Amino acid sequence: MADSDSSNVTPLISNQKRYAEALLVYEHLGRNIEALESWINSYFSEKIMKEIKVEKEKELMVLGIGSGQGQTECKVLQQLLKEWPKIINTVVEPNPSHINKFEDLAAKEREILDGVSFDWRQQTLQQFRQETQDQLMKKYHFIMLFHVMYFFEDLEDIIQYLKSILEDGGMILAVMECGNVCNILLLC
Ligand SMILES: C[S@@+](CC[C@H](N)C(=O)[O-])C[C@H]1O[C@@H](n2cnc3c(N)ncnc32)[C@H](O)[C@@H]1O
Repeated sequence: MADSDSSNVTPLISNQKRYAEALLVYEHLGRNIEALESWINSYFSEKIMKEIKVEKEKELMVLGIGSGQGQTECKVLQQLLKEWPKIINTVVEPNPSHINKFEDLAAKEREILDGVSFDWRQQTLQQFRQETQDQLMKKYHFIMLFHVMYFFEDLEDIIQYLKSILEDGGMILAVMECGNVCNILLLC
């Protein structure tokens, strides 16, 4: 008889390399990345982005959390560049393999992403919060969380924290999947 004791099962997230491999397979088989990209290129760019109330002449301060390998965030950055030609993008991603792939992608798409400068942080949001708490509170105009909210235990605390580092007129965009449905959470 098969052993059904789940205490022997190692959580996938405890092995970063294995997690990155599994996520690639999952994305390949299951996640509808094209639908999200098409949403970014249409609804996000035509409607949602317009609600970010930041002067076009300013450098847009962007924070990506759980950025993964950066495919989705690069599409968002391309759209933001149409309105804000200068962007400083802080990437908070704990998985070394993911952040390396994002750096490679950013280098490959250098011309498309011309105007974006990156601040790479290989750490969790909790570590980032801890590390930056003593610094003069740095704030962001646009904070994005694509498929990462599942990793946070105390969501209320996380949302309060994110709101505290959001500039006036800025926006937090969180996207989560539930079954076959993509949920979009916007906090302005
Ligand atoms: C499902 S992937 C989503 C990646 C990317 N945002 C996308 O939509 O393609 C979740 C990402 O969150 C990262 N992550 C996990 N726990 C995290 C935490 N506590 N803080 C920040 N990122 C985390 C993982 O390493 C992984 O790259």
